[in-house]
Amino acid sequence: MKLVHGIDELRSLRAEWQAAGERVALVPTMGNLHAGHLSLVEQVRPVADRTVVSIFVNPLQFAPGEDFERYPRTLTEDMAQLEPLAPDVVFAPSVEAMYPRGYPIATNVVVNGLVERFCGEFRAGHFVGAATVVTILLNLVRPDVAIFGEKDYQQLLVFRTMARELHMPVEILSGPTVREDNGLAMSSRNRYLSAEERDRAAMLRRELLAAARALKRGVRDFRALETAARAHLVTAGFEPQYFDIVAPDLGPALPEDDDFVILAAAVLGAARLIDNIRLDDPALDA
Ligand code: PAJ
Repeated sequence: MKLVHGIDELRSLRAEWQAAGERVALVPTMGNLHAGHLSLVEQVRPVADRTVVSIFVNPLQFAPGEDFERYPRTLTEDMAQLEPLAPDVVFAPSVEAMYPRGYPIATNVVVNGLVERFCGEFRAGHFVGAATVVTILLNLVRPDVAIFGEKDYQQLLVFRTMARELHMPVEILSGPTVREDNGLAMSSRNRYLSAEERDRAAMLRRELLAAARALKRGVRDFRALETAARAHLVTAGFEPQYFDIVAPDLGPALPEDDDFVILAAAVLGAARLIDNIRLDDPALDA
């Protein structure tokens, strides 16, 4: 496992792998790794000869007033967590290396129709910044495959659409959401929660499960399900931003459909939590 900060060093390693005809996987992260990130590394290891984990807290994807400055930067602990999984390279560039002429940069990757809604409505510029940095990372590492978490469902769709429409020579894979024992989706931002809030935060998952069960039973009054979930969250001290039942492509849910995704975001204390559920979630059969 090699820690690489510089772009030139990354490129020369990539050239060696290219010459050897090796298949390369990329796992982009912002660090402060948890079991969710590690599961993505585990999933791509078998499908590639070389694995690169990138760790870069990308200033472009933080909206003004968000937590860019206080986002946890824990490279030493991250390296220790990655050690047993032995990726070939941990690529941790500086902001100056990624944006040598400063930021914002002139070039933006905008996936129209996807970036404005849900998280995009509450986080100005977020998905444009994320899609732009992932494009840069894909151009630097030139992986055959890249993997992203289903926890960030809208983000995954943005990247899939971008890769398809821009004919990027990369296969996009996704990995299921890894959760705490109480159901809370793991997130680097969970560390902003107190112990009591962490317990309470699991309610977001319970509301998603309840609404998904209702959909599975055939309930089709989407607005009633959404309104009830939001009201329960407010009562429990959350500030819900959205709780929306939509089609898997984020288009409107139709009563005659039988496949849906429910997307939710809510602020609890100092943390903004997001989660989602599909109707094939194994927990719905339990
Ligand atoms: P970050 O929040 O660090 O997440 C890195 C990757 O881990 C993303 O693909 C995310 O969906 C996935 N992930 C996060 N929590 C997860 C969980 N509980 N289970 C499974 N996967 C999980 O998402 C980003 O960083 C950035 O936007 C990035 C794509 C790196 C671009 O800067």
